[in-house]
Amino acid sequence: MPAHRPSLLPLPRQLSYRPGHFTIGPGTTVRVPPGAEPAAALLRTLLAPATGLPLTTSTDGSFVLALDPRLSGLGEEGYGLTVAPDAVLLRAAHLTGLLRGVQTLRQLLPAKALWGTAQPGVAWRVPCVEITDVPRHPWRGFMLDVARHFQPVPQLRRYVDLLALHKLNVLHLHLTDDQGWRMPVAAYPRLTEVGGRRAESMVGPSGSTVFDGTPHEGAYERRELADLVAYAAARGVTVVPETEMPGHTRAALAAHPELGTVPGRRLDVWTRWGVCENVLGVHDEVLDFCRAVLDEVCDVFPSSHVHIGGDECPTTEWAASPAARARAAAEGLPDTSALRGWFLGRVGEFLTERGRVPTAWAENGEGLPPHFTVMTWRDPEHTRIALKRGHTVISGQHRASYLDYAQSYAPGEPQGQPGAVVDLRAVHDHELPDDTDAPGRLLGMQAHLWTEFAPTAAHVDRLVFPRLCAFADRAWHGSPSWPGFRERLSAHTARLAALGVRHGPLDPHLPVPHRSGKELS
Ligand code: ACM
Repeated sequence: MPAHRPSLLPLPRQLSYRPGHFTIGPGTTVRVPPGAEPAAALLRTLLAPATGLPLTTSTDGSFVLALDPRLSGLGEEGYGLTVAPDAVLLRAAHLTGLLRGVQTLRQLLPAKALWGTAQPGVAWRVPCVEITDVPRHPWRGFMLDVARHFQPVPQLRRYVDLLALHKLNVLHLHLTDDQGWRMPVAAYPRLTEVGGRRAESMVGPSGSTVFDGTPHEGAYERRELADLVAYAAARGVTVVPETEMPGHTRAALAAHPELGTVPGRRLDVWTRWGVCENVLGVHDEVLDFCRAVLDEVCDVFPSSHVHIGGDECPTTEWAASPAARARAAAEGLPDTSALRGWFLGRVGEFLTERGRVPTAWAENGEGLPPHFTVMTWRDPEHTRIALKRGHTVISGQHRASYLDYAQSYAPGEPQGQPGAVVDLRAVHDHELPDDTDAPGRLLGMQAHLWTEFAPTAAHVDRLVFPRLCAFADRAWHGSPSWPGFRERLSAHTARLAALGVRHGPLDPHLPVPHRSGKELS
């Protein structure tokens, strides 16, 4: 019988299959050196539901985990995996490398290994293989907007698992926006009590006159977020928080009108989509508020980078506000439009004091102090400009990494952000600009899901997959071929099915075979 050669996704950098296989059975034990216990624990956690295999630790186990500092060429996340008929050796310089290797091992098993329920009668064979694997980019992120539509914690954990399966290493949570504030802040309980609920939601794209008449609400508890961070860390995923300021803050203004630009004005949590012109004021009380929010964010999220938004901040309210004009003059700024950069600079100082890297969306890369890491999101040119300005950059391009656009023109395609389709090929083709003039400053790439059009978990899955598979293939490997990806993806769908992922079309020109978008619920 020819050996089964599973399709791995993302594609490892070096891979060669050999004849034969290793069978993981009830008697298989694992050799676990000091420091590698979390990798053994993850292996057991991932394989137990379907296989029931105990994979207990022993000093002479045939499944060997090795942590070896001499493998430093593999970096933080690289690993080597050798599967022979009588032994498995998974080695890395760092624990995170072992965690990545565990995911590869999981993909080398029959896809039934990914089911959440017992799968009796399966021979748990791993084909003999030699793999040396190192990611192309250190930052391979996915942003989930939990503000436009609240995503409950079990959904976040599920996405952590899906990211880890695809060797993505950052879950960026967009925690606050005009339409909802989801981040608990002890000193300001109204943020989630009032700002976490909107009366209804716009139906259709920005500018629509139709509303659904249904309240939408949700907020996290601090304990839940701390647990999520630990859950993600055990899988080698960092949760990066984003609290938007000074724009995209209408939900905060609904809870705390005193933070706005117009004294005494009352606003509701925004029920529309689009860019809202209401922004934070620039008085001292607002800076105190931002510090309190970021203190709490830093307490809950240990990530090196903390995102403060900074995008799409109309300055019309500041221009009309005597207090904002006085602030601009007192700070020696040319006009109130310079207050955005001033504001972000001040708030960035709080983060720097706390040992974090302030991170913001690039608006043409302008107006931010050079020590900010920027996330580009529109055009490839913005990545080049931001690198030139001295920033460290995480690259995104809305035409390749914004997963809220429709992914096909097929009739069953659900409502997405208005604009041209971002199909699977566009995501897989996503190239980063040359960074030879800025060594080490192009950290990597990120895909994004804004959730105006994703009210349920089914909608989220349908928009994210299979495009996130294409993104992960590109981000990890760097130059995977398109035909090879198509073939591997087609086999990979058995894994997505095992995990209950309701994905969109594999071929953008064909309707989804199993379910039309309009049936999503
Ligand atoms: C963005 O899409 N405004 C980051």
